[in-house]
Amino acid sequence: MNFSNKLIEIITDYAESKNVDITCRLVGSMAKNTSLMGKSDIDIFMTFPLTYSEDKLKEYGLEFGNYCIEKVGGVPEIRYASHPYTTGIIDGYEVDFVPCYKISDSSELKSAVDRTILHTDYIQSHMTEDETRQVLLLKKFMGSVNTYGANYKVSGFSGYLCELLILEYHSFENVVYHAANHWHNRYRIDLEEYGTSDKFKDPLIVIDPVDKNRNVASALSMQKFSEFIVACRNFLSDPKKDYFRDRVISVSGDDLCEEFRKRGTDCYVLSFNVPDLPDDVIYPQINKTMNSFVKVSEMYDFRVIENSYYIDSDNIAHIILEYEFSRLSNVKIHNGPQIRFHENGVNFKNKYPNAYIRGNKWISISERKYTSVPEMIENIVKKENRSILKLGKNVKDEITENYVLSSVFDLIDEENNEDYEQLFMHLFPDYKLVR
Ligand code: UTP
Ligand code: MN
Repeated sequence: MNFSNKLIEIITDYAESKNVDITCRLVGSMAKNTSLMGKSDIDIFMTFPLTYSEDKLKEYGLEFGNYCIEKVGGVPEIRYASHPYTTGIIDGYEVDFVPCYKISDSSELKSAVDRTILHTDYIQSHMTEDETRQVLLLKKFMGSVNTYGANYKVSGFSGYLCELLILEYHSFENVVYHAANHWHNRYRIDLEEYGTSDKFKDPLIVIDPVDKNRNVASALSMQKFSEFIVACRNFLSDPKKDYFRDRVISVSGDDLCEEFRKRGTDCYVLSFNVPDLPDDVIYPQINKTMNSFVKVSEMYDFRVIENSYYIDSDNIAHIILEYEFSRLSNVKIHNGPQIRFHENGVNFKNKYPNAYIRGNKWISISERKYTSVPEMIENIVKKENRSILKLGKNVKDEITENYVLSSVFDLIDEENNEDYEQLFMHLFPDYKLVR
């Protein structure tokens, strides 16, 4: 608190010296008493009167943030949310400086971050001290079962969502009980009884008490929603302390190879460089690219058992495609019409002179386009063929020009341990508390 007050003072003085009329305010979990030691950042918002243009707001916001971080010896970095803001690591704390408008209710909203002030007010005025501690339990639990964080990479529960769950259910245990026993797809929570939940179709619908037209859980994926429910069930049947500890997964390359060998699958890894763009821009693109590879593979009869991706610390994306088998026969069965349709049969025979009868229908044996996974991938990524794939727009050329296709065993040989872990987590969920 002392530290953030000092930062606020620096900014306020600087803005005053430049004749800019702002109020600085500590928001986010620090202001709500729901921050986890070593996990939460410091969120400082600079509120501008509505008379400032959005351009001025951005310009001053970045300038003031940079000034403050440099003044206390940190290194500023620009990030992008709905608009750019400055962030920096100072004394081991991650501090975000975000410009926003001073508004008193959601009808005046100009950008998504303007709500944050209203959120802080709402939680500060509605949450008891005991409930703030219940939030900490819930966040810690979410952290260890890997469902905490509303960023795209996790697509889990935001801090504010955890707070609203506690306001609804009052205690950590009661949240867990309800999630385990009552939550289902499109489950609704409407603290202020606005009655606006009908228009949302998400797995979990939690109407924002400060904005009746927003679902606070909109970033939550079906996957994380399900994982949280199962984690709650597992916790209730075996409430061990591991659920509040940071997960330590240590897995050796040898263990990992052994796992893949036991599966007996053909597991390929498609690797390529990704440009240095914000996570929330690049991750959805890799996800889309991966899904497209899966779809096209299946179209050519290469069945995919499991698929996953991650981006390593060198900004290389790895799309993992685990196939039942990677080599197919040179020919495949092509089904034709039933014998009872005389004319269709004649047409089919004209088209496929070698067609013959199997049971009640015509079939023909035709050549496959691709008989192995590497051959297929090599061809479909070519510039002239790639329209069959839906590739992310900032990665498509990298994939076409510089992709590397390797076996998962090669990847395991090369990567360091930290990267294995991500790979392992995705493919072998039994290492989570969730299963
Ligand atoms: P943070 O992501 O820092 O969350 O966003 P937090 O509540 O402070 O939790 P931790 O402890 O740091 O993880 C700061 C504020 O921005 C708004 C919320 O009001 C939040 O309190 N916010 C953030 C959202 O409304 N939605 C989001 O997806 C993220
Ligand atoms: Mn925060």
